[in-house]
Amino acid sequence: MNDKSPSRYAVFGNPIEHSQSPVIHQQFAQQLQQTISYQKQLIELGKFDASARAFFNDGGAGLNITVPFKLEAYQLADQLSERATRAGAVNTLIVDGDIIVGDNTDGCGLVADLQNNLQWSIEGANILILGAGGAVRGIIEPLLMAKPASMVIANRTVEKAEQLAEIFQPLANDFSVRLSVKHYADLNKPFDIIINGTSASLGGDIPPLSSECFNAACCYDMMYAKTPTPFLQVAAKQGARVIADGLGMLVEQAAESFRLWRNVKPDTSKVIQFVRDSL
Ligand code: ATR
Repeated sequence: MNDKSPSRYAVFGNPIEHSQSPVIHQQFAQQLQQTISYQKQLIELGKFDASARAFFNDGGAGLNITVPFKLEAYQLADQLSERATRAGAVNTLIVDGDIIVGDNTDGCGLVADLQNNLQWSIEGANILILGAGGAVRGIIEPLLMAKPASMVIANRTVEKAEQLAEIFQPLANDFSVRLSVKHYADLNKPFDIIINGTSASLGGDIPPLSSECFNAACCYDMMYAKTPTPFLQVAAKQGARVIADGLGMLVEQAAESFRLWRNVKPDTSKVIQFVRDSL
């Protein structure tokens, strides 16, 4: 590559067609008057490691990683940030001299969206998290660090929620958060904030929650779409105070990746609106 080539970034995933990341990062670059190249790349299953190494050997400066490769990115990284270690997954790879560092910006993206964009107060709140898969594991640490009064993790397969609770119990103790695990069927009181981290929406489904849970709750779906997700539609009908989807989280996690790569943090509000308008 000659010296005048812009730094190259990309997002690797499968599927990748609908990824908004190239649009988001180009918006950031434009806003900060930087010239970068950012492509989306469909990676065949089983080819992640070789593709990522080829990208970096060819002078690539950083990668975003999306479904289903976050665990493979975690394994590829020479060094991991603390938050990536706790999340057990990597969504951002950064070149640092001769090594590749893995980080995870998903959780801080969610917390930034909740606190800064939506102005939902996490401190002192009673939070319900739905789901216990990879996506949820990535958000628990930053949520605990924002000091809610309590956090309940509920999942269809309750053992998976129990495993997560075991991993994060020491951190919950550090921040004096009451952390517990529940079956969906045992949830029958209101929460301040409910976060849907399941992939149930993909099949047009939602976790079976009683209507009491939604009463005046702020409800968030980590998925986003042009129209409210099935979970948010039900939440609104059942009396949620306010609903929001995960588009803000998407842009916030991207902003934190951009900061890690470029050492400057973009302003996100106009970019969130830009992406919303283009859905
Ligand atoms: P991700 O990386 O998106 O978190 P995952 O690790 O496969 O994907 O986790 C998917 C999550 O969505 C799990 O919590 C899963 O519940 P189970 O652990 O019981 O499988 C949850 N999920 C998926 N479909 C669901 C449905 N129809 N109803 C309720 N929960 C569902």
